[in-house]
Amino acid sequence: MDLFKDKVALVTGGGSGIGLATVERLRAEGASVVLADVDPAAEATAQKLGAHFLELDVGDADAWRDVVDTITVQLGGLDIAFLNAGIMTQPATERGIRRIDLVNLPDSDYRRVMSVNVDGVVFGIRAVIPALEARGGGAIVATASIAGLLAYPTDAIYSGTKHFVIGIVRSLARILAKEAITINAVCPAGVATNIVGPPGTAEMFRERGVELMEPSIIADAVVHAITEGGSGRAWMCQAGRQPERYEFAKVPGID
Ligand SMILES: NC(=O)c1ccc[n+]([C@@H]2O[C@H](COP(=O)([O-])OP(=O)(O)OC[C@H]3O[C@@H](n4cnc5c(N)ncnc54)[C@H](O)[C@@H]3O)[C@@H](O)[C@H]2O)c1
Repeated sequence: MDLFKDKVALVTGGGSGIGLATVERLRAEGASVVLADVDPAAEATAQKLGAHFLELDVGDADAWRDVVDTITVQLGGLDIAFLNAGIMTQPATERGIRRIDLVNLPDSDYRRVMSVNVDGVVFGIRAVIPALEARGGGAIVATASIAGLLAYPTDAIYSGTKHFVIGIVRSLARILAKEAITINAVCPAGVATNIVGPPGTAEMFRERGVELMEPSIIADAVVHAITEGGSGRAWMCQAGRQPERYEFAKVPGID
């Protein structure tokens, strides 16, 4: 229960779904937790869980600097950053996730998903590194998706953003190791949260033979990624299976 006693953790997109479950889990393990979310309604959620709340649009680089400064001043530093906020290119409907029409996709929808899923992770990593270094090291975990490991034709832009998350995590691992910072990605398959549709969607998926996971399963995988000791890893999370490290194939001709 005291895995993260005296540690300070930041969770983006902490107001709902996977982020919320991870806030709960980190609190249960003794961490001081900052729940950051673009939705101001998440403040009440944070209060209920004994977490601190900061309003943050992860795609706003200036806001990131303010958030990390505030955490450092108010809580003394930062040890764990869970960069989890993410959206689909277009929101799910009551009938589930629609395939995007790339040709007619409004530019604003494209920019929005890139801002949250890509900028949000880059700006987040950039902002937290100095704070983690100041503590002598720490852990970054980013939420990618199984759609970052395989082709996901329903939302090719979303899939591309999640491939990006895995790419940056793998590419930074060795550099950040010098500062005793680990960086890993969790790659969930379907999870019963708002991103896949309104309440009742899980039942609809089940009828189609797709079992959605509870968000707490991904929170467990986040804890595993932080404590397991490795870096640059992609942890697949699938219904009925333990978090499993994805083994990337070697590129022919390169050792
Ligand atoms: N649910 C799934 O099936 C699934 C599968 C794989 C990956 N994921 C990923 O998990 C992560 C969390 O999603 P979820 O399923 O919990 O969905 P969710 O919609 O329940 O939660 C997302 C949270 O992020 C917040 N958010 C959105 N834009 C933001 C921004 N610009 N700045 C800060 N916060 C913002 C929302 O307010 C919300 O609280 C996302 O990165 C998503 O891509 C989800």
